[in-house]
Amino acid sequence: MKRILTGIQSSGKPHLGNVLGAILPAVELSKKADNECFFFIADLHSLTTIKDAEDRKNNVYSVAAAWLAFGFDTDSNFFYRQSRIPQVCELTWYTSCFMPFSRLSLAHSFKDKADRLEDVNAGLFLYPVLMSSDILLYDAEVVPVGKDQKQHLEITRELARRINHHYKTELFVIPEIKLDEKVMIIPGTDGQKMSKSYNNYIDIFKPKKQLKKDVMKIVTDTKALEDPKDPDTCNVFQLYATVASPEQIEEMAANYRAGNYGYGHAKTALFELLWTKFEKEREQYDYYMNNLDEVDRLLSIGEDRARETAVKVLDRVRKTLGFS
Ligand code: ADP
Ligand code: TRP
Repeated sequence: MKRILTGIQSSGKPHLGNVLGAILPAVELSKKADNECFFFIADLHSLTTIKDAEDRKNNVYSVAAAWLAFGFDTDSNFFYRQSRIPQVCELTWYTSCFMPFSRLSLAHSFKDKADRLEDVNAGLFLYPVLMSSDILLYDAEVVPVGKDQKQHLEITRELARRINHHYKTELFVIPEIKLDEKVMIIPGTDGQKMSKSYNNYIDIFKPKKQLKKDVMKIVTDTKALEDPKDPDTCNVFQLYATVASPEQIEEMAANYRAGNYGYGHAKTALFELLWTKFEKEREQYDYYMNNLDEVDRLLSIGEDRARETAVKVLDRVRKTLGFS
C-alpha cells in the first residue's frame, strides 16, 4: 500500500483545467485499491494571496464540492482542510529552522510571485516550507503534482534529508515526486493555458445560459462560414478535443476541413458536449453547495482521521528535537 498525498489550493472555483488536469487524475488514482490517499484543501497557503474571509470560505467549499462531485471517496481516503490540523504550523516552525534562507530565495515560484504581486509577504517566502510540512506531517510516500510544483517537492526532499542526517535517524519519510507529464495543459478561451489568473477559464458548474455565453466568447480567427478551417490552430477545437470521444473529434476535424462549418457551429457543439458530459457532476456540485453542512460533516470526519497521523508524527518530531 502506498500513501499518496496532494494538496489543492483554495484560490477560486475549480475550472475545466483544474478538473481535467488535477481532480480527475487524482480521483482515478484514489480508486486503485492499494492506494491510501490524503487529499487536502490548502487553505493556509491561500492566505498568501487571498485576504478576504468570505472569499476564503466560499473557495474552500467550492473546491471541496468539486472533489466530491467527481466521486472522491472520502470514506476510504482522507479528505481535510489543511487549517483544521494546525500541527502543520508547528512543524513548519521546526523545519524552517533547518531551511537555508538562500535556498528559499532562489525558488522559482517565489521569484515569479515577487515580480508579479504587489503584496510580497513573508508567507509567500515560506510557502515551500509549509508545503514540506504538509507532506512530512503525514509520512507521505508519493506526491503527485504538476510540473510547476516540482521544485517545491525537491526542496521538501532536501529538507527532510538534512534533518534526518542531522539527527542521524529516519525521522521523516523521503517522499517520491510523481510528475504528471502526460496530463495535458488545457487551453483557455484565448488559447493560453487555462488559468484563474488569466481570466480565460470555463466554469463547467455554471448554469446553462452562462456556460453557453462563456463558450460563445472563445476567441477564433475571422474565417468565413464557407472557408475550410484548420482544427489544429483553433481554440474551440482544442477544447472540444479535451473532452470529446475519438469519433467526435474526428467528425469535428473533418467538418473544419470541409468548410461550410462555422465557428458558431463548433462552439454550439462544444457547449452541448460540456453541458451533457458533466451533467451528473454539475448536479452533485450544486447538491453539495446547497448542503454545506454535509460538506462540513465529511471534511470533519476526514480531519479527525488525518489528525491521528499528524499527532503521532509530530510527537516523534518533538521527541527527536528535544521538545518533549
Ligand atoms: P490556476 O492556474 O487556475 O490558478 P492552480 O495553479 O490553482 O490553477 O492549479 C490547480 C491544479 O490544477 C494544479 O494541479 C494544476 O496543475 C492544474 N491545472 C491548472 N490549470 C490547468 C490547465 N490549464 N491544464 C491542466 N491542468 C491545470
Ligand atoms: N502548492 C500546491 C499548488 O499550488 C498546493 C499544495 C500545498 C500541495 N501543499 C501541498 C501540493 C502538498 C502537494 C503537496 O498546486
